[in-house]
Amino acid sequence: MKCVDDFRLRLGGRELVPIMIGGMGVDISTAELALEAARLGGIGHISDAMIKTVSDRHYDTKFVSGKQKRYKHNVANVDKSEVKFDLADVAEATRLHVQSTMEAKRGDGLIFINCMEKLTMNAPKETLRVRLTAAMDAGIDGITLAAGLHLGSFSLIEDHPRFKDVKLGIIVSSLRALQLFLRKSARTGRLPDYVVVEGPLAGGHLGFDPADWMNHDLHVIAAEILDWLRQEKLAIPVIPAGGIFTGTDASGYLEAGAAAVQVATRFTVAKECGLPAEVQQEYFKAGEDDIEVNSISPTGYPMRMLKNSPAIGSGIRPNCEAYGYLLDSSGRCAYIDAYYRQVAAHPGQKNIQVWDKTCLCTHMRNFDCWTCGHYTYRLKDTSRRLADGSYQLLTAEHIFRDYQFSKDGSIALPD
Ligand SMILES: Cc1cc2nc3c(=O)[nH]c(=O)nc-3n(C[C@H](O)[C@H](O)[C@H](O)COP(=O)(O)O)c2cc1C
Repeated sequence: MKCVDDFRLRLGGRELVPIMIGGMGVDISTAELALEAARLGGIGHISDAMIKTVSDRHYDTKFVSGKQKRYKHNVANVDKSEVKFDLADVAEATRLHVQSTMEAKRGDGLIFINCMEKLTMNAPKETLRVRLTAAMDAGIDGITLAAGLHLGSFSLIEDHPRFKDVKLGIIVSSLRALQLFLRKSARTGRLPDYVVVEGPLAGGHLGFDPADWMNHDLHVIAAEILDWLRQEKLAIPVIPAGGIFTGTDASGYLEAGAAAVQVATRFTVAKECGLPAEVQQEYFKAGEDDIEVNSISPTGYPMRMLKNSPAIGSGIRPNCEAYGYLLDSSGRCAYIDAYYRQVAAHPGQKNIQVWDKTCLCTHMRNFDCWTCGHYTYRLKDTSRRLADGSYQLLTAEHIFRDYQFSKDGSIALPD
């Protein structure tokens, strides 16, 4: 029986361990986590989600309070259309995060950045162009285009001097989405360097209809995409993601023709992960019935999370003057509508609850939206219970090596 280490991912003239740790915003996939993957010869992701907040946290900037001050007068206004991002600040925050991560890189692996199109930031095209450009300027090895079809994203950066050399990948959940992307990007004369095929068991947002995500299977979608690429003679590495919990699951995909796997949930309980330690214990403790896929994300995509996430039902005032990452091109967000509907229904009431949507910016920023993969309930089997009843956190290296070398469905426990 083979293990993951019997395979290599060939990308841009390099041979990598075929394990990619997926992007987890907001700062759940930290620079430290990504750097471990690169040190061990694989690929790690940082994320540019809410990049100004991340910059303030790590690089001593004051971007968030600056924006909040600038738009303080608008806080009680339902209309957020005037709340704009300063593009120079977005570029600077991205540059700080990418540059500092790249400077710390050791080993033979690569560092990519996860870039979600659904962060429309009240000016979708302009802000996305700045985010992608700044990441390339600052020396990122690769960009994974996520949460959206990205039909115009290659065009936004085709004039950048690194357009041909930076590794560019796209996350899709269907063959149709990949075909659309390739058709729309063809004009730029460039194929993606890899395709992440994300199935319905992943964490974060799911690229499926909320009513029928459960009818899809990653094995089927990945096989369909592999077959089609073979037929079209397109040599694009395919990287399945979502529910790949053991090294044996991973090597199964590699034997079936995948070039690598993207994994995330196992790393939510790594010491290097950005989740606070007490939240990591919630992930460890979760049972299968404690996890749900719901529709509270204002993006419109279904999202998987722990049912006891503080974000669910929270009725905090929209915080777009400080954040505003989900404002569409007319300054709207589904949470603003949901919040003011509840305010109107409960006049004079101080603490309202909002169940249909959540203020995702605020709750992701505060690690209060506990998004997770389907197999989170198996995390307890990957560690040891300590005398005080809590679970032992793992090192990213331990989890990475377990994926790389384990066989027979086994999971190595920590010492
Ligand atoms: C806590 C968490 C946060 C995530 N956030 C993002 C994100 O910001 N952007 C994204 O494209 N995918 C996100 N994902 C998806 C992962 O990058 C990855 O593709 C997927 O979860 C892999 O499946 P697994 O978690 O079952 O291993 C997230 C996953 C988790 C568990």
